[in-house]
Amino acid sequence: KVLIVDFGSQVTQLIARRVREAGVYCELAPFQNAEKAFKELNPKAVILSGGPCSVTDDGSPRAPQAIFDAGIPVLAICYGQQTTAVQLGGQVEGGHAAEFGRADIQIQENSALFEGVWEKGGRYPVWMSHGDRVTRLPEGFTVKAVSENAPFAIASDEKRKIFTTMFHPEVVHTPDGAKLIANFVHKIAGLKSDWTMAAFRGEAIKSIRAQVGEGRVLCGLSGGVDSAVAAVLIHEAIGENLTCVFVDHGLMRLGEAEQVVTLFRDHYNIPLVHVDASDLFVGALEGVSDPETKRKTIGKLFIDVFEAEAKKIAADGRGAPQFLAQGTLYPDVIESVSFTGGPSVTIKSHHNVGGLPARMNMKLVEPLRELFKDEVRALGRELGLPPAFVGRHPFPGPGLAIRIPGAISREKLDILRKADAIYLEEIAKAGLYDTIWQAFAVLLPVRTVGVMGDGRTYDHVCALRAVTSVDGMTADFFPFDMNVLGRCATRIINEVKGINRVVYDVTSKPPGTIEWE
Ligand code: XMP
Repeated sequence: KVLIVDFGSQVTQLIARRVREAGVYCELAPFQNAEKAFKELNPKAVILSGGPCSVTDDGSPRAPQAIFDAGIPVLAICYGQQTTAVQLGGQVEGGHAAEFGRADIQIQENSALFEGVWEKGGRYPVWMSHGDRVTRLPEGFTVKAVSENAPFAIASDEKRKIFTTMFHPEVVHTPDGAKLIANFVHKIAGLKSDWTMAAFRGEAIKSIRAQVGEGRVLCGLSGGVDSAVAAVLIHEAIGENLTCVFVDHGLMRLGEAEQVVTLFRDHYNIPLVHVDASDLFVGALEGVSDPETKRKTIGKLFIDVFEAEAKKIAADGRGAPQFLAQGTLYPDVIESVSFTGGPSVTIKSHHNVGGLPARMNMKLVEPLRELFKDEVRALGRELGLPPAFVGRHPFPGPGLAIRIPGAISREKLDILRKADAIYLEEIAKAGLYDTIWQAFAVLLPVRTVGVMGDGRTYDHVCALRAVTSVDGMTADFFPFDMNVLGRCATRIINEVKGINRVVYDVTSKPPGTIEWE
C-alpha cells in the first residue's frame, strides 16, 4: 500500500490514478490527517503532493516527521520537495505563487527513480511548477537533474530512498511521468502489481458477504454506471437477497428506462422493481421554472417514492431490508484539503439521496468507495456489463427536467428526447462518443421564425452541448468538425417536429456550468 499526502494541489488525484494504473493500491489523506492515516495504513511507501502554500509562510503544512523516520521510500513532488528539504535540514527561498509550465530537464546523474527511462546527459520534457525554490539540499542529497530555472529539478538521497522532484510526474504533460511513478512503486518500494479489477471483484464480494451476512439489501438504480456496477457486484455476492428499485421519473432519455429494465431482468436476472412514477414527477413539476425548485421537487419525490417501495418490499414476508446500497466513489469520499475552512457557495444542489439511509434507518453498503470512475468502468467490464453501457456519459439525477429551461411539459420532453437521440446517434456515427466527456441537447423556451417548404414555421430552438473534461469540475466545449454539427442540425430540424433552429454552445466551465440549469 502507498499513502499519498495531499497538500492541496489541483492534481493530487492524478498521483493516485498513476499509482493504481501501476497496479498498486493507494489512499489519499489530507495533510491535516496524514499522521493518523500513516499509522493506520502502515504504507510501504509515501508520496507527498504539491500544494498552493509557501513553505516559508508561518504555519504552512508539513509532512509528519514519522514518515521520514520510518525509513520507507518517499517521493516528494513540488511543495512536497520543498517541505522535505526544510524538514530534513535544507533551505528554501520564497518565490512567487505556484504556476505550471513546460520545461526541459537535463540529467546530471543516474537515479533509481528514472532507471530504464531516462539517461545521464539526456534532455527530457516535464511539466514544471514554478514557485518556491530549494536553495540548499539536506545532507545526503544530490542533484540528479536540472533545468534552466530549476537547479534542483530532481534531487535525491538514494541511500534513504527519498526522491524529490520540482516537476509534476503525475500529469500527462510530463510524458514519462507515469513510468517514473511505476519505477517508484515497483522497483524502489518493491510493491507488486496486484491491484486489478479481477482481484478487487473477489475481495469486494467477500467483504459484502461479511458485512451483510443473511441480511437483505435494497439498491436504487439510476440508469447510470455506478449504481449498475454496484448492483451487479452485490448480486454476485448475495444473490436473491438483493432487490433493485428503479424509480422511473419520466425524465430519462429515449429508450433509457427500457434498457435498464432489460439489462437487469433479462440479462442478469436480478430482481428489479420498476416504478413508473412519471405522472407523479411530471405533474409535480408543472409550472415550476426555477432550477433549484425543480431539483428539490424531484429530490423530495424521489425519496418519497423510494421509501414507499421499500415499505412494500419489507412487507413481502422475507423480512425488511436492513441495508441500502449506494454507488459512492472514491472522489466522493476523499476529504479535500481546506485552507480557509469557510463555507463554499452552492452553485447547484445536486440531487442525491444522502438523507435516505438515516431516515429509513438503514446501514449503507458502498462497495465502490475505493474506486475511481475509470476503475468502476473496468470493474463493469470485468462483471460483463455491455461496453456501451459501461462507457455511458454521465447523466444528471434530475434528468431532462434541467435541460428544458423554464417549465417542462410532456410535449417538450418528447421533443427533447428525439433531438437528443439524433444528436447522440450522430456523435456515435462520427466515432466521437468516447472522446467527448458528456454531450446532450437542450430545449430552449424560445421560438424563432423559420421557413420549411413554402411555409413559415415558428418553433423552438434546440441548443447542443458537448464538453471534454476529467471530472466535471472544469470543462471545455468540444471543437466539432462543422460538418458533423451541420448533419446534426439538419437531421434534428427535419426529423423533430417542434424544433426549427439548432445552435451550438461554446461556453467553457468556468465561467459556465455543463448543464444549462
Ligand atoms: P454542472 O452543470 O454543475 O455539472 O457543470 C457537472 C456534472 O454534474 C452533473 N449534474 C448533476 N448530476 N444531479 C446530478 O446527479 C444534479 O442535480 C446535477 N446537476 C449537474 C452534470 O450532468 C455534469 O456531469
